[in-house]
Amino acid sequence: MDGMELLDAIRTRRTTNGYFKPDPVSREHQHLLIEAASRAPSHFNSQPWRFVLIDDEAVRFRISDIAGRTMTQLIDEGKFFARYKKYFRFTHQEMEERRDGIFIDQLPPALRPFIKHMFTDTALSIMRSVGVPKILGADNTKLVAASPLLLAALLKKDEYIPGELSALYCILSLGMAIENIWLTTCELGMGMQFISTPMEIPEAWEELKMLLCVPDDLELMAIYRLGYLPEQRERPRIDWTSNQRKTVSQLAFRNTCQIPENDV
Ligand SMILES: Cc1cc2nc3c(=O)[nH]c(=O)nc-3n(C[C@H](O)[C@H](O)[C@H](O)COP(=O)(O)O)c2cc1C
Repeated sequence: MDGMELLDAIRTRRTTNGYFKPDPVSREHQHLLIEAASRAPSHFNSQPWRFVLIDDEAVRFRISDIAGRTMTQLIDEGKFFARYKKYFRFTHQEMEERRDGIFIDQLPPALRPFIKHMFTDTALSIMRSVGVPKILGADNTKLVAASPLLLAALLKKDEYIPGELSALYCILSLGMAIENIWLTTCELGMGMQFISTPMEIPEAWEELKMLLCVPDDLELMAIYRLGYLPEQRERPRIDWTSNQRKTVSQLAFRNTCQIPENDV
């Protein structure tokens, strides 16, 4: 993928839901990712971000355990679906119309009949009785444990002061830094996925902070898994796609918010 054009990278960047190659990510590539992050804009060039490159197997395994446990807990308690059901789409047609959200296009045959009722209490108890929360948690643990590189993103607390404008600037800057990393993975034949279940459960997030020895002057903001993409991509048992995007007219206005922009 040498020399991939920027627009190609922007258009083809995707979340990797499946496994990476087991090969370690070279130190050179790890440093390129951090350099790419550092090139993002930040308020007054403050560079408020910090990163932890995690390739140690023992640490990765402990993080994978937290990721799996939190996935199981969130699904089992019904919190995950309650919080995020508005983003789930179950048909191509729904996806075409809204052009946002995630499309659950891969599901074990046994669960397919329940798809339309996925968010009801009955569905939740059926899912529990067939062990879906445990299966999903175990799958997630395996996926994270098998990822050769985990990356934690942090912000300096003297910049990131919730309630102040600088906090907004920090979050914008970190978002841009992470997108730089993500686009760079496209160039390096790598993939990336957000691991957000631990941050959904405050105690688990604290556990992760302890594990990473996050000091008092830094705030842990997010964690990702990365690795090289295999030639043959296998999909997880329950999986989704989300490459649909809204059109220009759905996203942009002209001059004021009263005038929608046309698609052509
Ligand atoms: C704040 C945030 C949290 C996310 N959490 C997760 C996550 O926990 N797991 C995951 O697979 N993707 C996660 N994503 C990725 C989005 O689902 C994904 O970017 C979106 O569906 C578009 O798909 P794409 O990245 O393949 O273009 C997250 C993205 C953001 C910005």
